Amino acid sequence: PAEQDPGAPHGYPGELVSVLIDQETVQAKVRELAAAVAADHTLDTPPLLVCVLKGAVMFTTDFARAMPIPSEMDFMAISSYGSATTSSGVVRILKDLNSDITDRRVVIVEDIIDSGLTLSWLLKNLQSRGPAAIDVVTLLRKPEAVKVPLEPRYVGFDIPTEFVVGYGLDYAERYRDLPFVGLLGAHMYA
Ligand code: XMP
Ligand code: MG
Repeated sequence: PAEQDPGAPHGYPGELVSVLIDQETVQAKVRELAAAVAADHTLDTPPLLVCVLKGAVMFTTDFARAMPIPSEMDFMAISSYGSATTSSGVVRILKDLNSDITDRRVVIVEDIIDSGLTLSWLLKNLQSRGPAAIDVVTLLRKPEAVKVPLEPRYVGFDIPTEFVVGYGLDYAERYRDLPFVGLLGAHMYA
C-alpha cells in the first residue's frame, strides 16, 4: 500500500522513506498562498511571476492557476556552485528572464529556501533592474534560512533540515514528478 511505500505508485519502489507533505496538503497550501498574494495586488497591475527553474516549476504552474487574478510568467534558471545537496551562494545565470522587469511588480516563486544564499543573490540581481516591487513566495523553508536577514513574504511550510524531493524538487534530476513532498531513503544517496 501507498503508506508503506509512497514511491511505489509513481515508479520509485523502495526509494522513499515517507511522505512529508501529501498532495492534498500541498494543493491546499498553494491555494492559500495564491489567495494571499492576489489580495496584495490589484487587477490593473498583474504581477510577473518569476519561476526559478527547475525546482519551482510545479509550484509556479499550480500557483498561477490558483490565483484569482491574472498574472504573467517568466523563467530564470540559475545554478549555485556546491555539492548536490548544499549550495554555496556562488550563483551563475543559466537562463535569464525574457522580460524587462523595470517598474514591474515581481513575485519570485521558489520551491525551497535552505541557507537562503541563492535567494539573497537573486533578490540583489533582480533589484538592480529597477522593478516596482519584489516579493518572494516559497513553498518550503528550512530552519537554516532564518540565519539570513531576508524574510520571504509568503512561506508555505517550515520543514526540518532534511533533504526532500518531489513536487519539482529533485535528487540527480529524479523525483520532480512526484505530486507530494517526500523524504528520500539514505540508501539512495550514492
Ligand atoms: P539555498 O541554501 O541557497 O538553497 O537556500 C536553495 C536551493 O538548494 C536546493 N535545495 C534542495 N533541493 N531538496 C532539493 O531537491 C532539498 O531538500 C533542498 N534544499 C535545498 C534547491 O535547488 C534550492 O533552490
Ligand atoms: Mg536541485
